[in-house]
Amino acid sequence: MRLSTSLLAAAGAVPLATAQLHELAVKAGLQYFGAATDTPGFREREPYPESYSQYDAILEDPKEFGQTTPTNGQKWLFVEPEPGVFNFTEGDYVANLANRTNKILRCHALVWHSQLAPWVETTEWTKEGLREAIVRHITEVAGYYRGRCAHWDVLNEALDEDGTYRKSVFYNVLGEEYIRLAFETAAKVDPEAKLYYNDYGIERPASVKTAGAVRLVKMLKDAGIKVDGVGMQAHLHADNHPSEADLINTIGMYKEVVKEVAFTELDVRIKVPVDEQKLQWQSECYQKVVGACVKTKDVCVGITIWDFYDPFSWVPHVFPGNGASLLWFEDFSKHPAYDGMVNYFGELIEAQGGNATCS
Ligand SMILES: *[C@@H]1O[C@H](CO)[C@@H](O)[C@H](O)[C@H]1NC(C)=O
Ligand SMILES: *[C@@H]1O[C@H](CO)[C@@H](O)[C@H](O)[C@H]1NC(C)=O
Ligand SMILES: *[C@@H]1O[C@H](CO)[C@@H](O)[C@H](O)[C@H]1NC(C)=O
Repeated sequence: MRLSTSLLAAAGAVPLATAQLHELAVKAGLQYFGAATDTPGFREREPYPESYSQYDAILEDPKEFGQTTPTNGQKWLFVEPEPGVFNFTEGDYVANLANRTNKILRCHALVWHSQLAPWVETTEWTKEGLREAIVRHITEVAGYYRGRCAHWDVLNEALDEDGTYRKSVFYNVLGEEYIRLAFETAAKVDPEAKLYYNDYGIERPASVKTAGAVRLVKMLKDAGIKVDGVGMQAHLHADNHPSEADLINTIGMYKEVVKEVAFTELDVRIKVPVDEQKLQWQSECYQKVVGACVKTKDVCVGITIWDFYDPFSWVPHVFPGNGASLLWFEDFSKHPAYDGMVNYFGELIEAQGGNATCS
């Protein structure tokens, strides 16, 4: 049946042809669909034009994205470049954008082995010295943003590929203790924020890293330390991605140990050159994430893509031969995955007895 847009609006329904990701995600029962972004000077493409109005219009559209994350600006390298010297200029750009455009802010990341200020790795630490540096960092950074971060990625990528602890400077000096210290400190400094463990390669149920993430979170719980969620980064591949059932099973494993999960850095890389078949696989992959999150919405709170515009993606820089991992091509036309997700959200909403209707 075809209904006019005004009739649909009167019925409180979302006509799919004009529906957008965040509004559909909310209709489907999630808290948000969001996109990470960066300060203009940090976006991968240089030089960044002074005004990129098409990019900003999509980013700021509240129906498209209801949440954002600074891809870089809150990382140790930028917020504490020298011991005890804090600089929130980069982080504030995205935090202020979130505030101005009424978006939920996921904050990222307090303790991570990468993009770490060089002094942290070059100092000859005593245990006590490193404990103090971690506590000071979290106290200053989470304290500065207190009340503004819905989530904090307290700890990022602390596991190796085999699921054991990564041999970072933090682990080498303090062992597992640094993990407890990070979460304990964050809980004291910003008691309102949901505290997350965030990692990549933890989306499949049979992965040893998934088992490692469950173990890490359980270790915190058993020690009586607050940890609220697991963030599955979900940097996925178009031609070899987890099934919806796999994602749902993985979420089920996290549900045993935490109250919530989120897809925190979703992108789906394609081996270039891009063709229709690969874009179709990519669309299927994005849809599986949507389906898994909506079907576990008692646990899965939302989905964040790691920027939305291909030229600003980290993928081609880090994985040569791969690209086109986001939802908007360079010319600002949309990938098939965009409509794929819109349609799938519509089906899922209808299956829940909701109001999204094909127009
Ligand atoms: C703080 O960071 C900004 C942005 O990276 C930079 O321009 C500024 O010089 C820094 N401030 C200090 C005092 O280093
Ligand atoms: C934006 O900041 C103001 C002032 O701190 C605050 O009252 C308001 O709740 C914030 N809005 C959002 C969406 O974070
Ligand atoms: C559908 O629309 C009606 C009328 O606006 C509203 O009362 C109801 O809550 C909506 N249902 C859902 C699932 O959004």
